[in-house]
Formats: sequence, C-alpha cells, structure tokens
Amino acid sequence: MTARIIDGKTIAADLRGKVTDSVHRLLRDRGLVPGIAVVLVGENPASEVYVRTKSKMVAAAGMHAIDRKLPVTTTEAELLALVGELNADPVVNGILVQLPLPPQIDSHKIIAAIDPAKDVDGFHPLNVGRLASGLPALVPCTPLGCVMLAKSVHGSLAGMDAVVIGRSNIVGKPVAQLLLAENATVTIAHSKTRDLPALCRRADLLIAAIGRAEMVRGDWIKPGATAIDVGINRVPAEGGKSRIVGDVAYAEAAAVAGALTPVPGGVGPMTIACLLLNTLRAACAQHGLPEPKI
Ligand code: GUN
Repeated sequence: MTARIIDGKTIAADLRGKVTDSVHRLLRDRGLVPGIAVVLVGENPASEVYVRTKSKMVAAAGMHAIDRKLPVTTTEAELLALVGELNADPVVNGILVQLPLPPQIDSHKIIAAIDPAKDVDGFHPLNVGRLASGLPALVPCTPLGCVMLAKSVHGSLAGMDAVVIGRSNIVGKPVAQLLLAENATVTIAHSKTRDLPALCRRADLLIAAIGRAEMVRGDWIKPGATAIDVGINRVPAEGGKSRIVGDVAYAEAAAVAGALTPVPGGVGPMTIACLLLNTLRAACAQHGLPEPKI
C-alpha cells in the first residue's frame, strides 16, 4: 500500500481562509478586530522563527498581533505583571506565552495567571478541566489540528482504536481528550509502555508526539492505518547541513499506512491555523457574540 499523504498545508490554508472571512465580517458588522499577544522570553532560535511566523499569519488573517519580547533574565514576577497587563487590555483577546520558559520561571504559575477567556493555547487548568468534562473550552492548537487532519480522512472517528504516543500537556494528553470526545477508543502510550510496537500495530489511528526522530518504524503501523506525525526534529544531513524529520520514519510508514501526514507540511501548519481560530472564538465570546461557524 502507498499511503495517501494528508496535505496539512492545504487544509490549514483553507481553515485560515475561513477564519479570515469571519474576521472580515466581524470588522464590517461590529467594528471589531481580534487581537492576540504573543510573548517570547529569551532567545530560543526555534521559538523565534515560530513566533515570527505566527505574527505574520495573524496579520494576514486581518487580526491584530501584539508581540512582546522579553530578555532571558526576566523574572517570574515580571512575566506575571505582563500577563496581568495583557489580561486587562481590551484590545487583547488572546494571550500566548511561548513555551518553554527559562528555568527561573514556573510555567504552571504563568499559565494559571492567564485569563481563561484569553487562553488561546487551551493550557489553563480551567480549559483543561472543561475539555476533560466535555464542556465548551478553548482547546490546544496542535491537538485540535491533529484531530482535524484525522477527520479530513475519516469524517467520523467514532469507534476507531486510537493510540497516542506521548503524554505531554501540550499534545499527548489534550489530543487524547479530543479523540475521546470524538468517540474514539483511546490509549495513551509513553516511555514506560511495554511493547510499544505491538500496541501501535493495533491502532487504526496513530498519533506520534514523542519528540524522537523517526522512532515509529513502518512495522509499528497496522496496514491501512492513519498516522499523524506531530514530531519536528532537526537531524544532521549531508554536507554538514540539517533537515527536519518527524517522529515517524516517513518512507517506511508511507509503504504501510493508509494515510500519513508529512513533516514538514502536515500538523505544523494546522497549529497556527487553529491558533487563529481560537483567537477568533475568544474574541467573539468576549464580546458576547455567537460562536463563529467554521
Ligand atoms: N511551544 C511549543 N508548542 C507550543 C504551543 O502550542 N504553545 C505555546 N505557548 N508554546 C509552545
């Protein structure tokens, strides 16, 4: 079998287009421009690239981007003060504090300080709890993108055996909750899981969010299954260069899977598109407007 390649770039562009249309309607009908503040502490090059891309896409969608860059020496108190300022600013509908944070700052404290109504990352304990309780919530962007990509292949995920590899708060746990909400049967695997390859081979839907280059081999995948690769790993390439690979050994997986996301061009573009969607949803909710139909 040769897997169908799930084109995250196109699906994300389509979602961004729908969000942009809705943002234009919001401006025309209500005079509102959704705004998102992106806070970056320190000089992590990967985070800087990511934040720059986010800001460009936010502007392209007709939204207002407020970028706050702080030095690596920023204290927890200083960052809490900035979060407080952004919470109180009516121009700011969404707040994203880029993770990881420098070691002197407790990320849990920062996330808990963000107004849950502006928590476009869906990381605040209130939104985490709402998602787990089956209540409407702002939900994490990468997991939401993964589920949208899986639904682009299958329509409904009801009854599917889903295996999530990875239990992070950013991807593994929330994607498992979202899949459960879609009525999949969900198993969360992690570094202590026994016989991971055998467990993965049972999955109709495999979500790889481990952060280890090409760890999932072709023979871990059930023939015809769908594999969603969340990994973004930089590995050495010829000529002293580097290249980006996922958590799934792509060529091997493509020979076995029914559908597969590429890296880059799979989950990555969906994360930012979902951030735009969350910002739009947050802005509408804060103004007492109905949920945008997207
Ligand atoms: N770092 C890596 N992914 C994310 C994300 O989705 N949100 C934030 N805030 N930081 C991240």
